[in-house]
Amino acid sequence: MCGIVGYIGHREAYPIIIKGLQRLEYRGYDSAGIALYDGTDINLAKTKGKVEDLKSLSETSISLNGSLGIGHTRWATHGVPNHVNSHPHYSNSGDLVIIHNGIIENYESIKKELTKRGYVFESDTDTEVLINLIEEVKKKEDVKLGKAVQIALNQVVGAYAIAVFDRQKPDEIVVAKLGSPLAIGIGDNEFFVASDASPFIEFTNNAVYLEDEEMAIIRLGKEIKLRKIQNDAIAYPMVQELQLNLEEIEKGGYDHFMLKEIYEQPRAIKDTFRGRLRVAEGMVKMAGVDQNIEKFMNAKRIIIVACGTSWHAGLVAEYIFENFARIPVEVEYASEFRYRNPVITRDDIIIAISQSGETADTLAAIKLAKERDAFVFGVCNVVGSTIAREAHAGAYTHAGPEIGVASTKAFTTQITVLTLLALKLAKQKGELSDSKFHELLTEMENIPAKVELALESNPLIEIIAEAYKDSNNCLYLGRGYNFPVALEGALKLKEISYIHAEGYPAAEMKHGPIALIDEQMPVIVIATNNGHYEKVVSNIQEIKSRNGRIIAVVTEGDQQVRELADHVVEVPDTIESLSPLLTTIPLQLLSYHIAVMRNCNVDQPRNLAKSVTVE
Ligand code: M6R
Repeated sequence: MCGIVGYIGHREAYPIIIKGLQRLEYRGYDSAGIALYDGTDINLAKTKGKVEDLKSLSETSISLNGSLGIGHTRWATHGVPNHVNSHPHYSNSGDLVIIHNGIIENYESIKKELTKRGYVFESDTDTEVLINLIEEVKKKEDVKLGKAVQIALNQVVGAYAIAVFDRQKPDEIVVAKLGSPLAIGIGDNEFFVASDASPFIEFTNNAVYLEDEEMAIIRLGKEIKLRKIQNDAIAYPMVQELQLNLEEIEKGGYDHFMLKEIYEQPRAIKDTFRGRLRVAEGMVKMAGVDQNIEKFMNAKRIIIVACGTSWHAGLVAEYIFENFARIPVEVEYASEFRYRNPVITRDDIIIAISQSGETADTLAAIKLAKERDAFVFGVCNVVGSTIAREAHAGAYTHAGPEIGVASTKAFTTQITVLTLLALKLAKQKGELSDSKFHELLTEMENIPAKVELALESNPLIEIIAEAYKDSNNCLYLGRGYNFPVALEGALKLKEISYIHAEGYPAAEMKHGPIALIDEQMPVIVIATNNGHYEKVVSNIQEIKSRNGRIIAVVTEGDQQVRELADHVVEVPDTIESLSPLLTTIPLQLLSYHIAVMRNCNVDQPRNLAKSVTVE
C-alpha cells in the first residue's frame, strides 16, 4: 500500500515526482523517497514522514537536476517506517535503484541465498532483497535490465508494482505489475509511471494500465514494449484516453479533501445517475446489466463482498434488493469470505463493491467466486482498477477521485448504483408496479437537491461537534435501512478522530450496549419519520431516562424527538429506502468537525491508507 511515481523525458523530473507523490499520499504516508539521475550519478533522498518532509530534505541535501527519476510514498509492511526502510532502494553495486508497492512473500529465503553470495542488506525490507536479486541475475546471466527483472520476478512470490532504472543505462525505466496497480502515462517523447493517473494527468491523457503479470520496458525515443513476465509473449499496449481532469484531484478551496468530497455528493450522485436514470422513459439503463440480463433474472441469490465503508453500502443494498427485487442477499466481509470455503453456485451473482477497485481481500473474494463459476459484477469508482477489470461486468460509480482516506462520496454513490440496479431488476422481474417504479425513480432524481439541503445543517453540526469533541466513546443507533448508516457513522468517527464508537441496530441496545449509557455518553440516533419511527422514539426515551446525551437525525418538521433529544439535526423527507443517502450526511460532517477540533489529520488518519492492497 504505497504510491509510486517515475518520469523519463525532457522535463525536470523532480517537480513532477514530488507533486505526483503528494497526490498519491492517500496510498501511504509514513515515509517517502526520491532518486534522480543527473546525467552522471544518482541523487537519492529519503526520510520517515510525509512527502512535505521529503521535499524539505531533498531541497537542502541533493542535486535536483535530471530528467529521469523515481519516487515513493510508503505505508510500511516490512520494517518499521524509518529512513533506512524507505524507498528507493539501491542494489549493492549502487547501479540499480527500485521503488516497489506490494509484498514479496518469499523474501527471507532469497535474502539468505543472496547473503551467502556476499550481498549485504541495510534495511529490513523485501524490496532491497528484490533489487539485489535483479542485480545478481543481471550479472550471473549477463543480460540486460529488462530480462534480469523478468527472470528475478519469476523467482518471487507476492505482489508488486515496481519501477527500476540502471545508472549505467539511463535511457530506460523497467516496470512490472502483479497485484498492485501501475499506469504508464504517454507524452510526447516522455513517459510517466504511477500507481494511478493523478501524477501525470496535467501532462497527458493517454495512459496504458499494465495487467497482472505484465512488464514494460520504457525507453526514450521508442515505443513502449510490453511483455508477459512468465514467458516472452508480447502484449500490445492498449492506450486509454483518460477523462480525469486536474481540478477533480485538487482541494478547490476546501480545507480538506474530506470536506470537499462531502460537499461534492450532490454532483457525484448526479454523475452516478447520468444516462442511467431515465425517469421520462420509465427505465433504468445499465449496460453491464443489460448485457447480462439473463444471469440477473436467473440469479437465485446475490452475495455482496466488500470491506469497510463499501461493506456498509452493501448492507444498505441488502435491504433494497430484498425489499424490491425479492432476491435473497448475503453481505460478506471479503476478508472472511475468501477463507471460509463458502458455498457458491453458478446461480449466484457476486457483487464486489470497492471504491478503489484495488482492495486485496475483495479481489481475492472475486477470484474465489470466479473459480467456482459464479458471475461477478463489480461496483467500483476507480476506472480501470483491478477489480473493475477482474469482474465479468460492472457499473462505475463515477464519483470522481476520492482522496480523503475516509470514504464519503464513495458510500453515497455506491448506494445510488446499487439502488438503480435493484430497481431495474425489480421492474424486470415484475415485482414493482409501473406507478411505484415511477415514484421511486422520480424521488431518486430529487436526491441530489435534498443532499444539498442536508448539507445546510453544517453550521449547526459544527456547534454540536464542539460540545462532544472531548468524548471518549460514542454510540450510533439506527434501524432498517439506517442501521448500516449507524455503522458507517461510527466508522467515520473512529477512523478520523480516534474516538471509540460503535454502531448498533437501535433495538439491540437493550441487549447490552444500554449498560454503557450515562451522562458522558453521546448517542447519535437516526430517527427519520418512516420505517420504525415509533420504536426508535422508545429507544430514545430509554436513553434519556439513563441520562445519555442524545443527538438525533430526524425528518424535517419532526416534533416528538425534538422534545426528547439534546440536539436535533433535520434532513429532508424522502422515501425510506433512499433515506441513507441523506441521513449519512450529518454523520459525515459531525466526524469531520470533531476530527478537525481534535487537531487530527483528517485526510490522512494515522495507521490508515486509502486502499488496502495487502492482507
Ligand atoms: O476501496 P475500497 O472501497 O475497497 O476500500 C474499502 C475500505 O478499505 C474503505 O472503505 C475503508 O474502510 C475507508 N477508510 C472507510 O472510510
